[in-house]
Amino acid sequence: MIEEIEELRRQALAEIAAAVELQALEELRVRHLGRRSRLREAMSQLGSLPADQRPALGATSGGAQKAIQEALDQRRATLIEAAEGGTALDVTLPGHRPLRGRLHPLNSLAEELSSIFQRLGFAVVDGPEMEDEYHNFDALNTPADHPARDLHATFYLEGGGLLRTHTSTVQIRIMETTPPPVRVVAPGRCYRRDTVDATHHFVFHQIEGLYVDRHVSMADLKGTIEAMGRQLLGPQTKVRFRPHFFPFTEPSVEYDFSCSLCRGEGRGCRVCKGTGWVEISGAGMVDPAVFAAVGYDPERYTGFAFGAGIDRIAMIRYGIDDIRLFLESDLRFTRQF
Ligand code: DAH
Repeated sequence: MIEEIEELRRQALAEIAAAVELQALEELRVRHLGRRSRLREAMSQLGSLPADQRPALGATSGGAQKAIQEALDQRRATLIEAAEGGTALDVTLPGHRPLRGRLHPLNSLAEELSSIFQRLGFAVVDGPEMEDEYHNFDALNTPADHPARDLHATFYLEGGGLLRTHTSTVQIRIMETTPPPVRVVAPGRCYRRDTVDATHHFVFHQIEGLYVDRHVSMADLKGTIEAMGRQLLGPQTKVRFRPHFFPFTEPSVEYDFSCSLCRGEGRGCRVCKGTGWVEISGAGMVDPAVFAAVGYDPERYTGFAFGAGIDRIAMIRYGIDDIRLFLESDLRFTRQF
């Protein structure tokens, strides 16, 4: 009998220690100390035992009763405290799903573009957004009275300087500090005093490319632009060069990709407005005047340069019809990419 009571005590204490709710604790109290519990039953039989056995059994069952009661009280206090302090760990509750961050669509596109060019052997570089007139215009063969300057509605900064209107500034910064050959791309923000509407913003993004070496030709430029178009919009993508003017390239072109949505068919396509082509940006062979500004020998070296509008490419690729969405930080929009 003594052994049985000791076993009862062990079991009760283990169950109490494992109880996580007050309700369960109350059930344990009834079961182990209640009027119809095995312990009470044993105690009620004490009187009928031979006198020499009574003290030992009495001590064992009394001790068990006391230990169980104490364990119940203690466990009860712990549970109440935990509930009030909010520290109870309920492993059955659903967990908090951690919010996963991700790249903004323009950043991930800039990274994708960068890696396309890295595979072609270009290094990724950057330059300052706060610039001076020299790097934004003069060194790019756009002197003060040049009409092309009017096309760039520029934010001038108090105390001199300006916000760069294009990433072409980085061409100058790189050539100033690096002897040829150079092969770089520079993604980044640009600013113009444009009136904001669905297709214009005062902040936009470009990636600039520059390749200078001996014997670089227009064919290299076209091949490079074509490789970009195919990797960005699919292997069927075609490239079209249209004659254009930029002060820092001669000859200069604007280039288009065949529309990836209608596959160049046009007819009612909302991305290419029915033309079958989407305009990306400008490019050309680096003007000798630009080489002169950075001290490269135009007799020895030739080069090509190009820009690409990252916002524009993102709009074409994802069928976005309002550039403002990129800068509104509305998670309902940015989470879709
Ligand atoms: N910087 C020009 C713009 O923002 C784009 C451009 C045209 C970049 C021709 C070039 C280039 O590198 O060669 O409109």
